[in-house]
Amino acid sequence: MRCNLTPAWQTLQRHAKSFAGFDLRSAFALDAERAPALSQTAPHVFADLSKNHVDAATEALLQALARQTGLAAHRDAMFRGEPINHTEGRAVMHWLLRQPEGTLPGALAVPLQQVHDTLRAMLAYAESIRADAQLTDVVNIGIGGSDLGPQMAVLALQHLAIPGKRFHFVSNVDGHELAAVLKCLKAENTLFLIASKTFTTLETMTNARSALAWFRTQGGTDVARHFAALTTNVAAAAECGIRTTFGFWDWVGGRYSLWSAIGLPLAIAIGAQGFRDLLAGAHAMDQHFQSAPFEANLPVRLGLLDVWYRNFLHYTSRSIAPYHSALRRLPAYLQQLEMESNGKRVDRHGQALPYGTSPVLWGEPGTNGQHAYFQMLHQGTDVVPVEFIAVKKPTHNLADHHELLLANAIAQAQALMLGQDDEGGHQHFPGNRPSTFLLLDELTPTSLGALIALQEHRVFVSGSVWGINSFDQWGVELGKVLAKDIHARMASGDLVGLDASSAALLQRVRLG
Ligand code: F6P
Repeated sequence: MRCNLTPAWQTLQRHAKSFAGFDLRSAFALDAERAPALSQTAPHVFADLSKNHVDAATEALLQALARQTGLAAHRDAMFRGEPINHTEGRAVMHWLLRQPEGTLPGALAVPLQQVHDTLRAMLAYAESIRADAQLTDVVNIGIGGSDLGPQMAVLALQHLAIPGKRFHFVSNVDGHELAAVLKCLKAENTLFLIASKTFTTLETMTNARSALAWFRTQGGTDVARHFAALTTNVAAAAECGIRTTFGFWDWVGGRYSLWSAIGLPLAIAIGAQGFRDLLAGAHAMDQHFQSAPFEANLPVRLGLLDVWYRNFLHYTSRSIAPYHSALRRLPAYLQQLEMESNGKRVDRHGQALPYGTSPVLWGEPGTNGQHAYFQMLHQGTDVVPVEFIAVKKPTHNLADHHELLLANAIAQAQALMLGQDDEGGHQHFPGNRPSTFLLLDELTPTSLGALIALQEHRVFVSGSVWGINSFDQWGVELGKVLAKDIHARMASGDLVGLDASSAALLQRVRLG
């Protein structure tokens, strides 16, 4: 049943009204057990949800909403490999990429075997590149899911990266990006990885062609050694002359593809065992999502909290605050994961929705954000839930720094909640501002895998409750079509049929 038609939705609406006076400070004062009651561990992640605008009744009602919208059945359909991405007629099986070998009977046994055969080949290749001292530079050319995941993860696990190799990520069609990278490369020392699920994406194809041309003008001839394609479209890669290929399958969405051949830059950086550990961490979270009861199921609780905030308390954004500079690309990664998945305006039957979906995600690492936009989080007019992500153990020896970092993370969550009295004055902080605190013991491949799978599944949960297809992305198509048309008009100067604003802009950029 569509979420807004369920009895739980109506009850939640009444609950939200009676909740208007909810204050975190009183909630803690009234309930000494609030912090432990609203905290939990999940594989490799500890979560403190207690500084959120929820109470036990809210959570119980949200879980009823999940039951009434068929969340468990939908989740199980995904894990059975049913084609739940119905607008593209595809299964959604990124989780299969981290499923241990030989553990599934029936129809999924064959794809699982293919996953492991490909994984073995890809990891053997990664190890051969690691052992090849001549190849000092690895350039990943890809965009969206074919860029953000590997880039985020290579940065996050930089402390484990093989010395002597540099990793570059070129995504934008903006030639400034590729030109700046090429400037510091030598053809004989460079491996280009052309990462594209479809092998048709304009940006990636343009960059790949330019990289190939550059390689040849530099005297390079051995394309098989210096170029590899990571794609579901091996035939298209071959047409471009790239015959070293690692495939994956149409049931892996682009933004869910880090676990596939798209993860090759990471496998080169941290090695085969590191990559297997990443998969194991994600698999542990898959099992948690599948088996923990809703009230102790972290992806379920986070996803339902997202629905509560978006639809009942009308908070329209979420700020991501990783207190770890190695996680600096995590906000960008999560933006695509959440907003491309759940930024939808129709339900699974194509009917317009009468309620909001994806929040806007944004953020920067702490403590930097504190000296930039945290002003608005503390004293602005909108309430923005913040998600702190911190790591107990640093990977450096500057112990003082890490203590200061963690102290700041905890203090910010505290300041948001407690506020400060200066009635009417500029130093008044209203407080009662919500946050979630996620804590990892260490930033390892395993914990990173678990953290990312947690985020994938919480996006599944809210998308499922909203009754949308979280696995297509038709909203990116129109711009691609129009860009083709405008590009053709740039050459011809034809303005016929263009709106007046676009025509004037086109004329301006065509001026010599
Ligand atoms: O245009 C959006 C999108 O399709 C994303 O979903 C995807 O991650 C990205 O483009 C890149 O696509 P591809 O891997 O096919 O080049």
